[in-house]
Amino acid sequence: NEGSLWGGRFADGPAAAMAALSKSTHFDWVLAPYDVRASQAHARVLHRAGLLGDDDLTTMLDGLQRLADDVASGHFVPAESDEDVHGALERGLIDRVGPEVGGRLRAGRSRNDQVATLFRMWLRDAVRRVATGLLDVVDALVAQAAAHPEAVMPGKTHLQAAQPVLLAHQLLAHAHPLLRDVERLRDFDRRAAVSPYGSGALAGSSLGLDPDAIAADLGFDAAADNSIDATASRDFAAEAAFVLAMAGVDLSRLAEEVIVWSTPEFGYITLADAWSTGSSIMPQKKNPDVAELTRGKAGRLIGNLTGLLATLKAQPLAYNRDLQEDKEPVFDSVAQLEMLTPALAGMVATLEFHTDRLAELAPAGFSLATDIAEWLVRQGVAFRVAHEVAGACVRVAEERGVGLDGLVDAELTAIHPALTPAVREVLTVTGSVASRDARGGTAPVRVAEQLARVRDTSRRF
Ligand code: ARG
Repeated sequence: NEGSLWGGRFADGPAAAMAALSKSTHFDWVLAPYDVRASQAHARVLHRAGLLGDDDLTTMLDGLQRLADDVASGHFVPAESDEDVHGALERGLIDRVGPEVGGRLRAGRSRNDQVATLFRMWLRDAVRRVATGLLDVVDALVAQAAAHPEAVMPGKTHLQAAQPVLLAHQLLAHAHPLLRDVERLRDFDRRAAVSPYGSGALAGSSLGLDPDAIAADLGFDAAADNSIDATASRDFAAEAAFVLAMAGVDLSRLAEEVIVWSTPEFGYITLADAWSTGSSIMPQKKNPDVAELTRGKAGRLIGNLTGLLATLKAQPLAYNRDLQEDKEPVFDSVAQLEMLTPALAGMVATLEFHTDRLAELAPAGFSLATDIAEWLVRQGVAFRVAHEVAGACVRVAEERGVGLDGLVDAELTAIHPALTPAVREVLTVTGSVASRDARGGTAPVRVAEQLARVRDTSRRF
């Protein structure tokens, strides 16, 4: 069984369907650069433990470096007979340095501690790339918010007219969850920075190898405390899959608003040509496909998380081959987000906002009713009463077919004596927005501060 990592106790090689089922090189090959780096660290530890002579170490490191170069250039690729990335690379090493030296590398390690380590290394790098992509979307939101410091728009709850808000406030409301996702990714990294290398198959190594040295060599903060846990646990992968799914869900909420805003019925925005698509039959169409694919892929990311959790559920400790199913969903979540974020950032950065229409719609649906009630409260009226009075204003205005600012003085005082003409100071959208000036509110002065903080946070990452 040429190129296999086992076989001594087998008289026969695997059946073809067995080998096909077992095989993972088509997806785990992305771990190859990490595998070679870890092998270099392992070789040094073997040498330090007296299990590899000086010359053999030199030969081994040289062979591994040539192998790394050949992997990077695409000169060395897995063969049909290679079960996984680990087997393929051992074959590649033996091709380069011969079986005598090449056959020494595997001492004191198992694919179980190897794969758990390499997956962590890959994921720690991948998550950094995803975080950068999310921050690019944040930057695009920040740039749009900064370009529209005063623009107002209808704020909605239940997708119904609620209260006017600043466009910048609404845009930044999408930046905050993304910043928290980036923070979650960083937090994930703290727990992922523990190295399983040296755990062997499950029980640890008997060869006097130093797991701490390898951990440090590979950029981990520490070596694992429990070799069973280190080879059996994949909560690090599930945690990453969750944050990636959460980011997908957060992006989908932004996407959904873009989709709705770009309809002629809303007419809030126009998408740039470069970030939209046409229809093969309807010549007038301009579709928000970036946003729709974002919405769609969020479902896929959730599926990757739930699939992985289902794979992990009730697996006995330590390693089971079920665990080979851990990588594809996570690889996929990373790949999808790496495709999504540049497109989303480009789409957001090039959105054209129709600020006149947004301003015109901002007071629609009696969205200043709360301002009347709160103005009355400031005049000493109880909120229960104020709420009733503002409701009566809406009723009268609706009957007469005018907005709240169309009520005449006589109508106001007839509704309630406290409703003097001075209430008109809050019956404008700009007055309403400016009055919400506590921290976190939509007043321009607060939103400007918020913008500065968001910008600051995204630069600090
Ligand atoms: N390719 C496997 C994985 O991804 C590692 C191999 C471990 N195989 C084994 N029989 N212990 O998990």
